Amino acid sequence: MPKHSRIIVTGAAGFIGSHAVKALLDAGHSVLGIDNINEYYDSKLKNDRLKSIGYHKEFEFEKIDISDHNKIVDVFDSYKPVRVLHLAAQAGVRYSIENPFSYIESNLKGHLSILEAIRNSASVRHLVYASSSSVYGNDTAVPFSENARADKPVSLYAATKRADELLSESYASLYRIPQTGLRFFTVYGPWGRPDMAYWLFTKAILESKPIKVFNDGNLERDFTYIDDVIETTVKIIEDENFEHGHRIYNIGGSSPRRLQEFIDLIAKACGKTAICQNFPMQPGDVYRTCADLTRITKDYHYRPRVDLETGLPRFVEWYRQYFGV
Ligand SMILES: NC(=O)c1ccc[n+]([C@@H]2O[C@H](COP(=O)([O-])OP(=O)(O)OC[C@H]3O[C@@H](n4cnc5c(N)ncnc54)[C@H](O)[C@@H]3O)[C@@H](O)[C@H]2O)c1
Repeated sequence: MPKHSRIIVTGAAGFIGSHAVKALLDAGHSVLGIDNINEYYDSKLKNDRLKSIGYHKEFEFEKIDISDHNKIVDVFDSYKPVRVLHLAAQAGVRYSIENPFSYIESNLKGHLSILEAIRNSASVRHLVYASSSSVYGNDTAVPFSENARADKPVSLYAATKRADELLSESYASLYRIPQTGLRFFTVYGPWGRPDMAYWLFTKAILESKPIKVFNDGNLERDFTYIDDVIETTVKIIEDENFEHGHRIYNIGGSSPRRLQEFIDLIAKACGKTAICQNFPMQPGDVYRTCADLTRITKDYHYRPRVDLETGLPRFVEWYRQYFGV
């Protein structure tokens, strides 16, 4: 049983963050959650996720913007975390075309703000942060290996996530801050994100509205169920043997699936037929994602357990309950 830790989780009101907070509290840790509850998507959902964590004497929450460095330093000074799980970010590929500066504020300035707070903290022993499969772009050989250069991002979002990894590399080497970057591959599940395809498709299918299918459905994604992501993220943050350096892991599903197959499974879970409208490829999107899981499997015995056939009906069931549909 790992020792109890004081852990700061940024992005605590987000999809992955709220699940991570629950799992860390269940594992007996103390957690301080940070989130600015921005309006990128409905803040009611973010507040409801926080409510779903419920009252817990080992849980505190601060509504703070991570790019507000002075406030972040104050929080680190008073809470004295031993570990940090940094998930706050401006997510989404398409929104970076509409609002590019929000990515610079949250993903670059925000990431640096967390690194600087850790550099000046005497207590932090490990930073685990979220990167993304989008760093691989369209030019990387399949399956995507962490050893690939990943220097041809096709969206600003991907460019900021890759830049975060490079900032982390420099801080690990300059200031000896042990760090782990997690490249998540399309995470889905209950309490998910309203800007993502599985949510938009479920909503449209249940409302008998058409869904937008890009590139005629000729896209492939390596989908990862939230419980698989959380189980391994908790294992990594609890690992007391990792004390030096900076490493990066892919966290993906077991195999890529075609978009059309994905739509058919959602329609089946909804008990309805999908009305598909085809659109050309969107700027910033990649054709396929496919994780090489050799490294994470070797170091943490990672094995995704939940496939789309099981995970999508769980999401649809949660969605129906949450909205009373
Ligand atoms: N969900 C996925 O499929 C996926 C895939 C790859 C990478 N990621 C990464 O994982 C992390 C979590 O993603 P998610 O799906 O839970 O997204 P999310 O948008 O649900 O959660 C991010 C949270 O961070 C908060 N936030 C954003 N900017 C902030 C700031 N400047 N200060 C404080 N809080 C801020 C938001 O309010 C939100 O609650 C992100 O870093 C994301 O880029 C997610």
